[in-house]
Amino acid sequence: MLQRGKQLYEGKAKKVFEVLGDPSKVIQSYKDDATAFNAQKRGTIVGKGIVNAKMSAMLFQLLTQKGVQNHFIELLNDTDLLTYRVEIVPLEVVIRNTMAGSLAKRLGIAEGTPLKTPIYDLHYKVDALEDPLVTEYQAEALGWATRPELDRIRSMALKVNQILLGFFDSIGIKLVDFKLEFGRMPNGEIILADEISPDTCRFWDKKTNEKLDKDRFRRDLGNVEGAYQEMLSRVSGVLSSAKI
Ligand code: TMP
Ligand code: ASP
Repeated sequence: MLQRGKQLYEGKAKKVFEVLGDPSKVIQSYKDDATAFNAQKRGTIVGKGIVNAKMSAMLFQLLTQKGVQNHFIELLNDTDLLTYRVEIVPLEVVIRNTMAGSLAKRLGIAEGTPLKTPIYDLHYKVDALEDPLVTEYQAEALGWATRPELDRIRSMALKVNQILLGFFDSIGIKLVDFKLEFGRMPNGEIILADEISPDTCRFWDKKTNEKLDKDRFRRDLGNVEGAYQEMLSRVSGVLSSAKI
């Protein structure tokens, strides 16, 4: 029987625990706590931990089936995932298919403007600096990742985008943009880590353009919980996994 050890880390949206007797794995426990704008805005989204854990579990399983190596091992209960323990690369990898959010603001281009090709952006993962946009050259020169690692991260992220675009389209959702994180296994291999959830993606209903993600919390649009539940129910409707 797997036993939870001491807490290794508490982030804004999840806690990470060791697994007693197995240093190669960790337990990620998703919380209902929500923050936005570098934690200037704080709140609670009831049921978010369950939605994020279950949706991440199902999407990681889909990605495994499609050949994208990731940290997911098993969903342990409503809010906890058993994953491989990795060393997180300090980059937030953002893929955009439609103009929205910070890039729309920075470039003065209307949200919803379609993009001719996906945009691939890297942000240095440091809260104190508000996750600044960085280039691959900066990441390589500063030793955050090697050139071969950056090449693998980019090709994996674009493959994840192709898989997720098709999947979300099939459940009536436009995948506007999303953020991924990658980690290093003890043998040096780069795999996909973190979570894939309404906290880390922008989901718009294909017919109505209704926002079904954390922007409802960031922008005080109301019905935040309803949006998270709607996304979980659409994803579960197609990806019924053994442990869900
Ligand atoms: P942005 O438009 O604010 O740069 O966000 C792009 C995508 O990345 C969006 O789907 C939300 C996600 N994201 C995170 O998951 N964590 C973050 O800290 C930020 C700023 C964005
Ligand atoms: N998660 C980030 C924060 O807490 C940003 C966001 O998702 O808007 O500040």
